[in-house]
Amino acid sequence: MVDTRKIEPVSWSNDRLVLMDQRLLPGKEEYLQLETVAEAARAITDLVVRGAPAIGVTAAYGAVLAARARLDQNSDDWKSLLLQDLDMLAAARPTAVNLAWAVDRMRLCIETTQPSELLGSMFELACLIHRQDIEANYLMGDLGAELMDADSGILTHCNAGALATAGYGTALGVIRSAWKAGKVSRVFADETRPWLQGARLTAWELARSEIPVTLIADSAAATFMREGKVQWVVVGADRITANGDVINKIGTYSLAVLARAHGVRFMVVAPTSTVDHQTASGDKVSIEARDWSEIWAATGSERPPEGVTVSNRVFDVTPAELVDVIVTEKGCLTAPFGQAIASLKE
Ligand code: MRU
Repeated sequence: MVDTRKIEPVSWSNDRLVLMDQRLLPGKEEYLQLETVAEAARAITDLVVRGAPAIGVTAAYGAVLAARARLDQNSDDWKSLLLQDLDMLAAARPTAVNLAWAVDRMRLCIETTQPSELLGSMFELACLIHRQDIEANYLMGDLGAELMDADSGILTHCNAGALATAGYGTALGVIRSAWKAGKVSRVFADETRPWLQGARLTAWELARSEIPVTLIADSAAATFMREGKVQWVVVGADRITANGDVINKIGTYSLAVLARAHGVRFMVVAPTSTVDHQTASGDKVSIEARDWSEIWAATGSERPPEGVTVSNRVFDVTPAELVDVIVTEKGCLTAPFGQAIASLKE
């Protein structure tokens, strides 16, 4: 079997940030080498790298690139310029809280470290964030897999795999561990319109790991559930608010409603870096809207007819009451989620 740790969406090599260009998958496996914080922010916005934990790790290394440049300039206002760079990084995408979380950790490092030691400390912190994400994924993989029975059919949405994290994956981490334990009959990856993370990334990742995967249209999920082929829906998250609402790729909410209607269990897998204790509920979260062309592209025509507007909201909110379990590296949470999430702070 292919070693899945070899899927490295984010790495650091020769003093550069190296990103696998996910826009080109599954056709081409190419890597971009970035030297500036502006390039790192642009790569996050343009989906060169995507997935909440992976953009957190990218931002951490992006902050190191910013610090290197500002310290080299040796000007009096290096610190305020560096903090502005970090603001720019944090604004690269609005919804996944891991981005703000990683940037906040870097800000704290800047505020508490002597300039002479700053670059080394920021680099160590970025490596720690990177390493801890991989460790969390392995822990969550085992915890989530334990909840599954033999011969489980699993439906997953978007890509919450090695590509979306520092390695192994959150939802796909559980699927990998369950597969190793002999519990998975088949994985159904839905396409995940409009950017097709499921079709382009998840199907590629699972096939590469020799895990049986069937690609289905987003609209086919209900039928597969009614036919008894799906026992679990397993997804990642971009943010989990204090009450347990789950913000994830558009279409997650529909799957949760369908799962409840068909007696299918619904599992969310996310590290504690995805938990936003400051925000009470999902309706308070800024949901990214991307360009209309991402939706329209599938038609093959240049633009919509006069009078047609296109809404491309790329995340949705799944209410906590539709979630059966949230798997974190600190343990599995069940309702009442407010209490369980607050206990993660202890
Ligand atoms: O727009 P994307 O591809 O960044 O959206 C990614 C998702 O919605 C993932 O499910 C989420 O970030 C969890 S990744 C472990």
